Amino acid sequence: MTSILVTGGCGFIGSNFIQLVLEQEADVQVVNFDALTYAGNLANLSDVAQHPRYRFVHGDITDAEAVRAAMKGVQSVVHFAAESHVDRSIQDSGPFVRTNIVGTQILLDAARSAGVKRFVHVSTDEVYGSLGETGAFTEETPLAPNSPYSASKAASDLLVRSYVHTFHFPALITRCSNNYGPYQFPEKLIPLFISNLMQDQPVPVYGDGQNVRDWIHVRDHCTGILAVWKRGRVGEVYNLGGRSERTNLQLTHALLEALGKPKSLIRYVPDRPGHDRRYAIDCRKAESELAWHPTFVFEDGLRQTIDWYRGHADWIASIRTGEYLKYYERQYGTLTKETHP
Ligand code: NAD
Ligand code: DAU
Repeated sequence: MTSILVTGGCGFIGSNFIQLVLEQEADVQVVNFDALTYAGNLANLSDVAQHPRYRFVHGDITDAEAVRAAMKGVQSVVHFAAESHVDRSIQDSGPFVRTNIVGTQILLDAARSAGVKRFVHVSTDEVYGSLGETGAFTEETPLAPNSPYSASKAASDLLVRSYVHTFHFPALITRCSNNYGPYQFPEKLIPLFISNLMQDQPVPVYGDGQNVRDWIHVRDHCTGILAVWKRGRVGEVYNLGGRSERTNLQLTHALLEALGKPKSLIRYVPDRPGHDRRYAIDCRKAESELAWHPTFVFEDGLRQTIDWYRGHADWIASIRTGEYLKYYERQYGTLTKETHP
């Protein structure tokens, strides 16, 4: 039996990862260390809460004492915990610096003292910046983050890199493209648009809607992280992606069609400041070294995701209240004005 400390396991990707590990890895115990911020939700793991190989610890990665205590008896760390939403980082970068940079440093030091054997740092393709019309990010693409969120993730990647170089610390880094799937907090494009459309509310498309994202189903991301944990080479970076580039407008039309809603629900709203134009991931390194491949056809994954949100109206309703509504109002106003690019 080996034990993995998963940070941020009550969020979108972390909760999917924990479910995958408990399902597929019979000799792995999971300790889920999560601060339960606005994005953390215990309900995401209600199916496994009583699982004999699962334990939840409520704690903050910026709290060195709590992190040290949680690290006892653990052989690996898979580090998801982060402030993860670009628009929130534009509103206030403070929490991003604290959690993503300082929190990662505290975690690295605790893991080093505890003699952890493997540390997987879950990062993002956004650290590479923005692409033009062609090409894709490789692991050699220079870091050029453009938002406070991606800058804080790039800083954490560099800290991890420095611990490998200076201390021979056994860390690996993954950089993945845009995830979609069950349990994604409804502030990100796909779950926001699905949950708005389910209530016949308008959907806010930034700018001209021609920004491109490379979508990957969360399950494929999680199998990629598991492959990196099992077979990745220490000190290496592995890009993970879904080879499913879509403009935001193509995606919006697909969602409207799948949900049977009219195009009149589209609202073109002012662009995100510093909005990256295009992301695309070259994940051939992970495919050839780790025998990992993304498996979802985007349209099938999207349909499955829509079905999941339709079947979890209570989960959505429990989130879309209080703090969420205040954030929504700050970010979007009332969305009553219809404008066109
Ligand atoms: P999320 O916002 O859904 O979840 C973040 C989780 O971290 C929450 O459970 C939250 O409570 C927890 N957390 C936040 N601050 C914490 C702290 N100080 N201490 C302990 N726990 C804390 O995020 P997500 O979308 O699941 O992303 C997880 C990771 O994957 C992040 O590191 C993100 O940068 C990376 N990533 C996300 C995507 C994506 O498309 N969502 C793509 C690539 C990489
Ligand atoms: O690429 C990986 C990254 O993907 C992760 O590191 C981040 O944690 C994750 O949030 C995501 O970042 P994006 O900024 O790409 O995702 P988001 O869902 O916020 O936006 C996707 C695209 O949709 C982007 O071009 C902005 C646009 N958008 C987003 C929102 C929330 C809109 O047009 N309207 C919106 O209301």
